[in-house]
Formats: sequence, structure tokens, C-alpha cells
Amino acid sequence: MSPARLSKHFVTHPASRDVLSPVLERLPGAARRALARSPWATGALRDVAAMVRSWTTPRPPFQLIGRDGAALPGERRLKVLEVRRETPDAVSLFVERPAGVRELAGQFLTFTLSIDGAEVRRSYSLSSAPDEPCWRVTVKRVAGGSGSTHLTERVRAGDTLRTRGPSGDFTLDPDALPGHLLLIGGGSGVTPLFALAKAALTADAGARVTMLIGDRRGVDCLFAEEIDELARAHDGLRVVRVLESSGSVESPRRIDEADLDDALARGTLHEARVYVCGPEPLMDLVVHALGRRGVGGAQVKTERFVTVRAPAADRLPSTPVTLRVGGREAPVAPGQTLLEAATAAEIPLEFSCTMGGCGACVMRLVDGDVAMAEPNCLDDDERRRRLVLTCVSRPLTDVTLEPDD
Ligand code: FES
Repeated sequence: MSPARLSKHFVTHPASRDVLSPVLERLPGAARRALARSPWATGALRDVAAMVRSWTTPRPPFQLIGRDGAALPGERRLKVLEVRRETPDAVSLFVERPAGVRELAGQFLTFTLSIDGAEVRRSYSLSSAPDEPCWRVTVKRVAGGSGSTHLTERVRAGDTLRTRGPSGDFTLDPDALPGHLLLIGGGSGVTPLFALAKAALTADAGARVTMLIGDRRGVDCLFAEEIDELARAHDGLRVVRVLESSGSVESPRRIDEADLDDALARGTLHEARVYVCGPEPLMDLVVHALGRRGVGGAQVKTERFVTVRAPAADRLPSTPVTLRVGGREAPVAPGQTLLEAATAAEIPLEFSCTMGGCGACVMRLVDGDVAMAEPNCLDDDERRRRLVLTCVSRPLTDVTLEPDD
């Protein structure tokens, strides 16, 4: 490329017009000829031209890297096909299933919602099994909950939802079903349990599955008719409902250890795989009671959906700090998460739910300190190993991260 063409390129390029062209236009003819003969100078100018082009050429949207290494779009806009009222407080949103995305039963979606001018993110479990034609997310309204109120009262068929995921490891390998699948929960916790039951019975119509469900009143029980229908179609599925308040139930009460013993008695303890999702007190009771019976570790999976609390602003630095990861650096503005800073700098990090609930964004803190929003899905052992979730971590100092291999 001749210096004259380069000069013309700079002169006409919007980003360089004001800065570079006056310099090139003043080059004397001899200097231009020297540049034309100099491969080094011509190459350097070509690099400058490429750099200027890169400043002004629109970039492709940021891509998140899936856990399997495949590039996935960061966010999908999915159409709501149907809104079905399940109980007085809960609806199911049937949304289109994106082509080529295969979820596991028990996973959840994260929605980014615009509510009263603010953006909020909320995660909700899929109640659909992977072989169903569309995704079904079931949302129960929580008193004072902006996300659940919006989804249960304002969303209509035909609307579009900004969606991330599916995420989460509250899942089941349909090719390795346990001898006895025990699903325990209540309230909206029944949502992923229903998906797991359907997936297990699709994989093996004769699978031994027990659902132990607690709820306040019969009218609040999610999927009651569908679960009963599933049980009628599969001899191996046993459903036990425990209701807390009166109505048609003679002895209202909560799930207790006798219910657990009764459920576990359907198989040997070592062949049981237990999934627990529901209100915190119920989950704590079940997990501790299982532990006392020698059922724990990989045999028990839990799923907790709680609102994460960001660290107090006065703990955070008031000036930018530096994030170092993979040989690159990014400034982190006060209050930004590590993931937000990396994304802004186009450093590709894994992530999915962006709410501290799935673990997809986990990295190891090599240097520095962070404040993480709590509670989140890291356990004590992972914290001892200095693992952090970049989506809910805000730096307190300069930090260096590396993948957790
Ligand atoms: S992206 Fe899910 S925990 Fe961070």
C-alpha cells in the first residue's frame, strides 16, 4: 500500500480524520517515497490502519463459553407461548425451546426483567422434562417479590423474555438412574422435582421413584393432577403428600423423620439417591435426618433459591482496581463485579446464571481479595481453596484469577 493510499485512507476514516491525517498530509514527497520503499514503515502503517479500523468497526456481541467449551450466545430472547395458572399464586410460562439447546432435567433459567425502569435478574426452575416440545418454567409469587410478581401477573402469551441458561447441577443422568430415586420438597421446590420424576420415568418406565411433597394446603400443591396422572401410568412412582393446614386432610402436619424413614424403606439406603428442594427449614430437617441415617455426600443433592445480598458499599474500594486473568488485564470500576469488568474488556470467562447459583463462573483467586454476594453456591471446602464466583464477586484489591482445573 502506498503512503498516498494510506494517507487517503486515514483522511477518509472517521476516527483518524482529526488526529492522523494532518501528520500524513504534511509528509514531504521524499519521505513518502522513502516510506513506499520501506517494508518496515509500510507494515507499521498498515498495523496503524488496522488498529484505527478496529476502533470503529462494530464488534460481534460478547460470547460466553459453555462449560463444554462450545460458544453459546450469552442471552436469548424467547417468546412466551402460553401462560397457565397452576395455583392461586403460581403460573407456568411455556416458552419456545431454542434450537440446538439440550438441557438436563432439574436445571433452571435466569431471566433479566425490566421492572419499573430497573433491571433485575431472577432464576426459576424448569418444570418441563428435556423431551417436551417447549420449555416450561413455573413461578410462584413471593410476597413483596418484584420478579415473581412481574412474571406471575404481568407476562402474557406473545411477550418476549430475556433468558440465560439452562444452568445448574441439580440434575440426573438418565443413563445412570439410581435403584431408588427419592424426591423430597415443597412449595415451588416441587418444580425441579417434577421435571426429574418425568425424566427418570421417561428413561425407564419401571424406575422406582418416590415423591415426598409437603405444602401448606392442597390448593397450593403444584402439578397435583399431573403428578397423580404420572403415578397412575407408572407403578414404580409413589407419591406421598403431607399438608400443613386443614381442609380435606384430617391430621395436618409437616414432613417429619417418620415420613423419611417410610420413604427410604422402599429400597436399601445405599441405592437411594435423594434430591431435596423446598423451604429452608424443610431442607435442613431432611438433610440432617438423612445424615444421621448415613445417607449423605454424593447421594444427596440440594437446590436452594435464595436472594443474594451484595456486599455493603462501604467495604468496596472507591477507585478502580485491576483484574488480571489469562495474561490480560481489565480495570474494575467501583461496584462492578469481576465478570462485568472482564466482559467489558472482552475477556471471555465462563458464566451462566450470573446470580451465584450455578457455579459456571468459578475461578481460583491467586492474588488479592474479593467480597462475594451471599448466600451463593460455593461450599466451605471450595472457599478454603480460594474459589470465587466472578458473577457475584467484587474486588477489594487488585486481583489475579486462574481457572480451577
Ligand atoms: S454464573 Fe452462575 S454462579 Fe456465576
